[in-house]
Amino acid sequence: MRPYQFQTADKIAAGCHTLERLNEYLNVLPPVRTALVLSQPSIVKAGYAESVVRQLEQSGIACQLNADVRPEPTDQAIIAIFEKYKDEGYDMVVGIGGGSVLDAAKILSVLATNAMTIEEMLGIDKIAAAGVPLILIPTTSGTGSEVTPNAIVTLPEQELKIGIVSRYLLPQLVIIDPLLTLGLPKPITAATGMDAFTHAFESFISNKANPFSDMFALESMRLISQSIETAYHHGDQADAREAMMLGSMYGGMALTCAGTAAVHAMAYPIGGKFNIPHGVANSMLLPHVLAFNLDAIAHRMNLVASAMGITDSHRCSSGEAADRVLERITKWTSELDIPQDLRSFGVTDLDVPDLAIAASKVTRLMDNNPKQLTVDDIESIYRQLIS
Ligand SMILES: NC(=O)c1ccc[n+]([C@@H]2O[C@H](COP(=O)([O-])OP(=O)(O)OC[C@H]3O[C@@H](n4cnc5c(N)ncnc54)[C@H](O)[C@@H]3O)[C@@H](O)[C@H]2O)c1
Ligand SMILES: [Fe+2]
Repeated sequence: MRPYQFQTADKIAAGCHTLERLNEYLNVLPPVRTALVLSQPSIVKAGYAESVVRQLEQSGIACQLNADVRPEPTDQAIIAIFEKYKDEGYDMVVGIGGGSVLDAAKILSVLATNAMTIEEMLGIDKIAAAGVPLILIPTTSGTGSEVTPNAIVTLPEQELKIGIVSRYLLPQLVIIDPLLTLGLPKPITAATGMDAFTHAFESFISNKANPFSDMFALESMRLISQSIETAYHHGDQADAREAMMLGSMYGGMALTCAGTAAVHAMAYPIGGKFNIPHGVANSMLLPHVLAFNLDAIAHRMNLVASAMGITDSHRCSSGEAADRVLERITKWTSELDIPQDLRSFGVTDLDVPDLAIAASKVTRLMDNNPKQLTVDDIESIYRQLIS
């Protein structure tokens, strides 16, 4: 096995009501005078963004709140925010919201200290210097972005989504407060929860899977499997929401060590061209890519089935375990109302060849897939989602 490594956020405070205690955790940061607080309208409406601003101001940090981060942020949208605040400057960035806000916050932290464009940052280890201190507070249980060195940007002209990967995107402080997700609407709970599961699952079957990623991935799949249906049907149950948030964070840690694979590679082109939310794209693709990969990964499925609580690993053959995993994920698709038709997002048969070529070029992730996909294989999987 090749050497493996793991690096994540400096400090993570987790548990119900941790948001209200934000100031207690600030000692991990250097002294700062001003903060740019990024968020989304739903988070402002719930009072969470205001809570951040009030607490930071009590600690003597002057805040500017921008709650206009749109889902799946584009490079221009992030630059527009930077242009608005760069003259006055900011010593710290706080992101409180879903993965879209967290990714935008990460990029705004490094834009403050690097004379680089977002385009120059795309890819692995392109960012020259550390950003200003960064605090990330997730409000969805999905991306795990709070603990990964990744930020995903939508590039509308190229009809693509591309990742920036750099240790300088890791935050100094993360607050995991499950209470922030109690009001998450059902479709977002479903799509983001399945995204989190996909991070764990793809990391576990990745060609780069290793003892670190396996540990996080199995625990992530255990937590998500036992709580996703409760979180969806009874969103006010804090225990299920806490399990989902931890599952999502562990999924992020797993993908940091091992990388995601073909599901994510195929989700980026349909997200970039047809604005399909990231979680929805992944949830739609997961059962189909899993079925394609199944013969190559059957030997790992006993452990997955056991973590998911759907078999006793000692009494079940690998083939049986693999079937049960696929069955359970397919059951979630209908139980959680995951969309199943790409046509409803405007995708037609004619789009498939270009989408397949674009997905095949996401080699950073395709190379992690346990089974090689030809462009024809990718086309055939997309076509299964066009009724
Ligand atoms: N950096 C990474 O490691 C990583 C990993 C996976 C995905 N991503 C990226 O993250 C983005 C997707 O993030 P996401 O799936 O968390 O969704 P999101 O941030 O786009 O949010 C989706 C919707 O949920 C709403 N919302 C968020 N929290 C809420 C709450 N608590 N209550 C009510 N509404 C709430 C938002 O306002 C928004 O309308 C994509 O751009 C994706 O590419 C990044
Ligand atoms: Fe994802």
